[in-house]
Amino acid sequence: MKVNILVGTMTGTAQLCAQEMELALDDGETQVETLLMDQLDSSVFAREGVFLICTSTYGQGDVPDNARALFQDLGTKRPDLSRVRYGVFGLGDRTYAETFNFGGKKFDDLLTELGAKRVGERHKHDASSGIMPEETALEWCKEWLALL
Ligand SMILES: Cc1cc2nc3c(=O)[nH]c(=O)nc-3n(C[C@H](O)[C@H](O)[C@H](O)COP(=O)(O)O)c2cc1C
Repeated sequence: MKVNILVGTMTGTAQLCAQEMELALDDGETQVETLLMDQLDSSVFAREGVFLICTSTYGQGDVPDNARALFQDLGTKRPDLSRVRYGVFGLGDRTYAETFNFGGKKFDDLLTELGAKRVGERHKHDASSGIMPEETALEWCKEWLALL
């Protein structure tokens, strides 16, 4: 099984979570590749394997700057993603009550619209909870892999 982790981040927290998930999942049988979303376009979803969207939220419920080009390209080209399976590990902060975790939600909604199938629930990490997201990521990704 191949897992592609796509990382949307502004200040590196989502990248840290992705690194933890790669360490936890990559055991030879499962091969993990972590890609920052910078410079990716919708063709990334033609890769072999399953996808894990690991992204934070910025602005007013927007995807981070490094995820914008990929998100827009998906929305414009609207590729058929019916063969794609994915999970979402989202990061946000409940202080932003109206737009909590919307970065992950936006990817989730768009991928579903394009025919992709989500595996498991979308994780919504809350930075105001005091819980370290990289620790949650470790547990969450093992449960996610078991569902695949
Ligand atoms: C300027 C700014 C705007 C933010 N806007 C939102 C938001 O609208 N919704 C949300 O859930 N979190 C929001 N956050 C919280 C971040 O998503 C959260 O701190 C996350 O852990 C950052 O991860 P990163 O370091 O990978 O970018 C915002 C944070 C900052 C600094």
